[in-house]
Amino acid sequence: MLTLRRWAGEHVGVQVRQPVFVDVDTGVDDAMALVYLFASPEAELVGIASTAGNVGVDDVCRNNLALLELCGITGVPVSRGSEVPLVEPLRTAEDTHGPQGLGYARLPDPTTELTDHDAAQAWVCAAREHPGELIGIATGPLTNLALALRAEPALPRLLARLVIMGGAFDYRGNTTPVAEWNVSVDPESAAEVFAAWSDSGAEHLPIVLGLNLTEHAVLTPQLLSRLADAAGSPSTPMSVRDPRGTASTAANPLIRTLEDAMRFYFEFHHDQGEGYLAHLHDPLAAAVALDTALVRYRPAPVDVELTGTLTRGMTIADWSHRWGREPNALIGVEVDPAVFFDRFIARVGAFAARLDEVSRR
Ligand code: BDR
Ligand code: CA
Repeated sequence: MLTLRRWAGEHVGVQVRQPVFVDVDTGVDDAMALVYLFASPEAELVGIASTAGNVGVDDVCRNNLALLELCGITGVPVSRGSEVPLVEPLRTAEDTHGPQGLGYARLPDPTTELTDHDAAQAWVCAAREHPGELIGIATGPLTNLALALRAEPALPRLLARLVIMGGAFDYRGNTTPVAEWNVSVDPESAAEVFAAWSDSGAEHLPIVLGLNLTEHAVLTPQLLSRLADAAGSPSTPMSVRDPRGTASTAANPLIRTLEDAMRFYFEFHHDQGEGYLAHLHDPLAAAVALDTALVRYRPAPVDVELTGTLTRGMTIADWSHRWGREPNALIGVEVDPAVFFDRFIARVGAFAARLDEVSRR
């Protein structure tokens, strides 16, 4: 059970708002995760770190600022992270997320500025400003977080909770046969992050959601239509038979943006032979960060393969304790996707409807 202290935060009426810091490589599903956080009344977003990954770091910064502006959110600082992983040159995934990271969606150039300090410093500042209270979420390569840990080794004990989307546990990879994208892009940073939690104590273990869990969060055109309906902005349901890049017909600007982004992601999954659908890895991580009861976990010692010629970037959980190490992660092993999607649709739908209403006034 979470203690009252770990839930401490700003009180808004009867709603307790928890400070949240998110590190993203936006990215279609990162964008959906951000919108979920904007739409969640219990989350007080105190900062966004931009990490290079799905697209280069400047595109990630632009996407983060542009999404905040689209959603009418002010006062959330966005910081630029490292351009490159700790050791390897950067690989990006425009085939998955589109040329700028938001699929077919195009947002106006943002008018707001990045912070003067970088994303690693932003992690440290946020954790020090909210000791024992901050919820951290990482849905991209872990470069910024690894650099933050080098600057502030007490970070594991300063955070109330950390949720990482990364890895694949007893499950195939999506980047190599065994490695998941976020870990595969910067395996050294992932290894440093897991090592940093190796003596943090059982109450501070990060929650790690790998592909074995997040691939249960399957968004379909039917679910996306439910979202548009919940926003009071019905649109023509998407179909695999539509011409590629068909633009959304939704009147609501946020729903239109999400549908145009998601269309690209559907097409990518379809080309991979997975069906006309998309895995919402990062939104699930955001939802779990705000409500850990959405998932069942197993503690285990986790490490990252760094030297294997075929297995570099593989995440290994030592379920049978053969390494003789203490657990350094709580690995998500079971989720009810219907509960997650009901909540996602209710929150983001209502948020999109409110946004539209405000913009019409
Ligand atoms: C992860 O890789 C990225 O492409 C997604 O945004 C997600 O964070 C899934 O492997
Ligand atoms: Ca991501």
